[in-house]
Amino acid sequence: MSTYDAVRALVWKHDALELLDQRRLPAVREFVRCTTAQEVAEAIRAMVVRGAPAIGIAAAYGVVLAGRQHGLRDADAVRRVEEDIERLAQSRPTAVNLFWALQRMRQVLADGGTLELLEEAARRIEQEDLEANRRMGEFGAALIEPGRDVLTHCNTGSLATAGLGTALGVIRTAYAQKRVAHVFADETRPWLQGARLTAWELKEDGIPVTLLCEGAAASLMQTGRIGWVIVGADRITARGDVANKIGTYGLAILARHHGVRFMVVAPSSTFDLALHSGAEIPIETRPMEEVTMLAGQRIAPEGVEAWNPSFDVTPAELIDAIVTERGVILRPDAERVRAIIGGA
Ligand code: MRU
Repeated sequence: MSTYDAVRALVWKHDALELLDQRRLPAVREFVRCTTAQEVAEAIRAMVVRGAPAIGIAAAYGVVLAGRQHGLRDADAVRRVEEDIERLAQSRPTAVNLFWALQRMRQVLADGGTLELLEEAARRIEQEDLEANRRMGEFGAALIEPGRDVLTHCNTGSLATAGLGTALGVIRTAYAQKRVAHVFADETRPWLQGARLTAWELKEDGIPVTLLCEGAAASLMQTGRIGWVIVGADRITARGDVANKIGTYGLAILARHHGVRFMVVAPSSTFDLALHSGAEIPIETRPMEEVTMLAGQRIAPEGVEAWNPSFDVTPAELIDAIVTERGVILRPDAERVRAIIGGA
């Protein structure tokens, strides 16, 4: 599988976290070096690094950098690290992996963790994510019968995770197994994760990819070429409602209408069992300039406002399978989520 997993978004250097600047891809391949938790929080906010698992991993290393910066000698130093954890938690609101990773780091700190233990915990979070992606790749690919193409949305690849990816990990594995021969990728307005990142990752791997505007997805499904829509997730509730990149909900409705199956791929760290309904998930609204401007140029008339929610919620009823590293949840509901993920 390593043939189809060449890219790394995060490189831990012990005294710094280097982040491949996703704002500049595919034109420029440049790393941003963070040596403090504040810098990591700003990098997450500015989307130097993005994608639910990747921001959780980045935040975990941010806590290690906070430990290095403040030292862990006394209660005052630990309090400064806790303030940095809070700063990291404020960076983006929707992907629960961020809060999940910070909670793990907070626990290490509360247990009297040394700098070495914090670093070990962050490395473990990264390693576990890579292993989860490999397992999900196998589980998800096994659901795909050869003969039809797949459609994906946003970027869920190595750039969004520790490596391989969630939805893109399934697609990579399915391609390696000759279950998928061709990938369609939504450009993903307004930030263009599909055009700039997914197309780039697949091209690097030599996997055939065709881009489309998401407005073309209905017509693509109407041709009968698509067997599965395969997406990632930023937060999944106890009943299986899924928050993911804006546009995902529309794809799920289109898929159901056209008899195309709909797969969500996410590690157990993406589940928020404290929430029942998707309506409870906080949805990030991003600056309207992301919609009114394109590549630094204004495209809408001066003074026109834009609504720019970054995520939407797909109800469990529209999902055929949620693939996790613990197993596959077919036609998710509260009971089936509990059977695989646990919870009350
Ligand atoms: O705003 P982004 O680019 O961080 O949004 C990313 C997504 O919505 C992905 O689909 C999601 O995080 C799953 S990635 C493994």
